[in-house]
Amino acid sequence: MRCFTWNTLDSNKKSENRIELKGKILASVSWICYFSLVWGNPLARIIAVANQKGGVGKTTTAVNLAACLAAADQPTLLVDCDSQANATAAIGFQKDPARKTVYHALILGEPFEKIFLKSQVDGLDVIPADKNLAGAAVELVLAESREYKLQTFLLPARQKYRFVVLDCPPALDLLTLNALVAADAVLIPIQCEYLALEGVSELLDTLMRIRRTLNPSLEIEGILLTMYDERTSLSRQVATDLRSFFGSQVFQSLIPRNVRLAEAPSFGKPIIFYDIHSKGAEGYSQLAQEVIANAEKRLGTGARSAHSGA
Ligand SMILES: Nc1ncnc2c1ncn2[C@@H]1O[C@H](COP(=O)(O)OP(=O)(O)OP(=O)(O)O)[C@@H](O)[C@H]1O
Ligand SMILES: [Mg+2]
Repeated sequence: MRCFTWNTLDSNKKSENRIELKGKILASVSWICYFSLVWGNPLARIIAVANQKGGVGKTTTAVNLAACLAAADQPTLLVDCDSQANATAAIGFQKDPARKTVYHALILGEPFEKIFLKSQVDGLDVIPADKNLAGAAVELVLAESREYKLQTFLLPARQKYRFVVLDCPPALDLLTLNALVAADAVLIPIQCEYLALEGVSELLDTLMRIRRTLNPSLEIEGILLTMYDERTSLSRQVATDLRSFFGSQVFQSLIPRNVRLAEAPSFGKPIIFYDIHSKGAEGYSQLAQEVIANAEKRLGTGARSAHSGA
């Protein structure tokens, strides 16, 4: 298995992290690797992290899930679809007006190979964003096939990666629509707080509409409870309500409120490279395990269907 590294860490830290992460994340990877070897690298699963409510943990989830997947030897692409460019910064890219971004992809039709960047995490590439992307949502309005721009752009990425994670803006605009049309599944972070479900029914309506029209195979990857604070009864109550309402669609993994998760972006590092021992790192490592296990199950189902001729 390829070793992952955060390229600026010292070597002791690297090997310490390597051993711990392999233990934490890789437990279930051998089987999926076997399938990859036997049948070649299957097409990437594209997961859009979306919720039009602001500040619920979309970017934190996209960045840390992508980093944990890459650390588990799953070649991963992180696409920043938000003009706030928070995911781009959180993964370690400083502002650079000369850099090509999702804007060049969607509006100027530039190819994937000219835009993707290698991040400092082994196995994790990035399509960055910057503030100009705000104009794309407006400029796309008159474009032909405007909802399919990202899907077309990402075609080469399907062959190259195991997972593609899309960080969506806090709006149901044309950028989010492009992400939901390009995606195989949507991961919905919901903050464990008062009015947690605000906007979620609108998002679910939108997903139904997209399934009827633009992307019939769009699935729900899962609902992720974020910023869970076990000390407050409100958090516990919201988590219980969401689990009883959405049932098995809610991930078992739960992301705690953790100050280390809030600090990590200002160092341009995913949590597993900022503080591997934190509760936040544990939460996102478990989430990556769950996402890999789900992909593994789907592969198994696909294999069984293919075998039975279904
Ligand atoms: N589990 C957590 N514990 C503590 N702080 C968190 C956690 N998750 C996210 N945060 C912090 O909460 C703020 C909002 O998180 P984030 O940017 O991920 O949300 P978002 O949904 O992407 O926001 P937006 O809608 O503006 O794009 C950030 O300052 C982030 O560092
Ligand atoms: Mg965000």
